[in-house]
Amino acid sequence: MNKRFYVTTPIYYVNDVPHIGHAYTTLAADILSRYHRLRGYEVFFLTGTDEHGQKVEKAARERGLHPKEHADRMVENFMGLWKVLNISHDAFIRTTDSGHMKTVQGLLQMLWDKGEIEKREYSGWYCTPDERFWTEKDLVEGTCPDCRRPVDQINEQNYFFLMSKYQERLIRHIEDNPDYILPDTRRNEVLGFLKNNDLGDLCISRPKSRLTWGIPLPFDENFVTYVWFDALVNYFSATRYLAPGAEKAGLGEFWWPASHHLVGKDILTTHAVYWSTMLMALGLPLPGNIFAHGWWTVEGRKMSKSLGNMVDPHMMADKYGVDALRYFLFREVPFGLDGNFSEEALVNRINTDLANDLGNLLSRALTMIEKFGGGIVPERIDSKDRDSGWEIINGVNQRTKIFEKEIIGDFTQPHESGMTILQYNFKLSFEKLEFHNVLSLLWGKINHVNKYIQDAAPWKENDKGRLSNILYTLSESLYHIAFNIYPFMPVAAQEIWRQLGIEFEISNSEVPKEWGIIRSGTAIKKGEPLFRRIEKRKEAGEVIKPGPGKEEGANLISIQDVLKVELKVGKILSAERVKKSDKLIKLQVDTGEQRQIVAGIGKAYSPEDLVGKKIVIVANLQPAKLMGVESNGMLLAATGSDGVPVIIMPEKDVEEGSKIK
Ligand code: ME8
Ligand code: MG
Repeated sequence: MNKRFYVTTPIYYVNDVPHIGHAYTTLAADILSRYHRLRGYEVFFLTGTDEHGQKVEKAARERGLHPKEHADRMVENFMGLWKVLNISHDAFIRTTDSGHMKTVQGLLQMLWDKGEIEKREYSGWYCTPDERFWTEKDLVEGTCPDCRRPVDQINEQNYFFLMSKYQERLIRHIEDNPDYILPDTRRNEVLGFLKNNDLGDLCISRPKSRLTWGIPLPFDENFVTYVWFDALVNYFSATRYLAPGAEKAGLGEFWWPASHHLVGKDILTTHAVYWSTMLMALGLPLPGNIFAHGWWTVEGRKMSKSLGNMVDPHMMADKYGVDALRYFLFREVPFGLDGNFSEEALVNRINTDLANDLGNLLSRALTMIEKFGGGIVPERIDSKDRDSGWEIINGVNQRTKIFEKEIIGDFTQPHESGMTILQYNFKLSFEKLEFHNVLSLLWGKINHVNKYIQDAAPWKENDKGRLSNILYTLSESLYHIAFNIYPFMPVAAQEIWRQLGIEFEISNSEVPKEWGIIRSGTAIKKGEPLFRRIEKRKEAGEVIKPGPGKEEGANLISIQDVLKVELKVGKILSAERVKKSDKLIKLQVDTGEQRQIVAGIGKAYSPEDLVGKKIVIVANLQPAKLMGVESNGMLLAATGSDGVPVIIMPEKDVEEGSKIK
């Protein structure tokens, strides 16, 4: 039996038109799926739409349609976008599928029979747009704590899932399985919530008098199922009628539990708390991981219909290309953190990483093979100073040493057999869903091959054997690079192969485990540039000649480089010394959201002096580990006269989270 990998996205509300945020989660699942398929896993990648509930009913009524008709039309927006973005999902679930509805009813009946559901008198505050009840103390100034819209008081009979009794077990599960909720900051949030609050029971019904557009409770026809109970079950029900092999009796069962549920941070509680406890009550295994990624904003503001600032993925894909968009979203912002969508940053990535580093590598390498090898991949000649291509592409070089420290801290264990540190880090970053690290490792590799062309200088090489080996190494390196970028940029990866003269479907292949796959004698097919540079608009600022005293080529950077660094004001919430270090202090800092920063200021400051202080931090620095402690950002400090750090602080009080420009 093959290794299995099952990944899900949220099922999106069918009412909304998909924007870049919906695309983001679905693309992440696509990247993971493609990566695992290449590695020989049998993959089940599920996405879909959430189609019941009050909002859909209301929107349909406004259009004079039956809710199902309305959903049938709206669902096309999602299916169409996934096609454009090259999403390789294996199934698309709709909560109006009869297979799903039957499963929801079956599970409800099971819980009812087991005594996990109770009927009670209920009175609470209801937020209609969010379809959520709140207690009196949840309310913020009498409004919904989530959306700040008015709430209605409601008294009625309802059915409750007895969630509260699973509180301790859930805490234990999260503590015993450190990867259950990722990233760590989100895990800590959930644990903090569970340890400091009494978990209530969950109202899982709506009287039909108030809502008809839902799945009827199997044990009381006067009620329909609460939309979240219906929606969360999709992950399980899909394994029963949509997963590969599910139509054959029993085979679907192999697919539960899911390996990863990918969600945005907005819906972490429903997954980490409601879904987990529902599974416990059903006696079903819990998923391997729930990963809550961050939020895309535009110019620092939430995307919303009313602001009219929604980033349309169709438009971005049209303007810049699907692969470039896919690359950008996962290179620019670490998966897990919030990010600001900017076209300027996207253009920079295209021009630098894609057109320059990767695109030029391909065209240079193929030009060399054309010029010096007659357009044919030459033989590898056995000669004393044959380049070891395997080392060039996977070797332990300066860059991997840096990454070794940054990514896995004081990493002392031997790496898995046969793997170089680069390969090991690559795999590890993928497993932890650190897509930006994967890409940054890969670009280390790409630039390593770029440098190799420069160093090996085939244009100066007189030794035929050596020249052959250099050209062979280039084509083989590109063959391997194509594999590595494939999950992110499937079209570009296939195009690299095509230009190398390889005719196979990259998606049907298996990752090469060794060097020397390309057959000598293959005719290359050099074609169009892989990515085109995009001319920047002039408003971005004109570059002027350096002033007096500054030689051209001095260490000057452009305004674009400056803008890459995201500086923010943060407030220190707490501080403590890192064990066994007299220099490092671990800070919890509020920069609009809470983050942990480790700073080397321990000789000049003591933790008590720091709490409450406002500081300046670099907010978009790659996370790193210092003495094994994770740091997400860098505190700015001047070097004082005797080398003692002096913390930079704002001159007047400014709100934490403020940007610095
Ligand atoms: O919540 N940045 O559906 P939904 C990043 N039906 N991701 C974003 C985003 C943004 N600005 N905006 C949306 C629902 N997302 C329920 C889910 S699951 C059993 C039921 C993504 O249409 C992100 O994945 O509101 C977020 O969790 C999801 O869309 C919410 O989609
Ligand atoms: Mg939402």
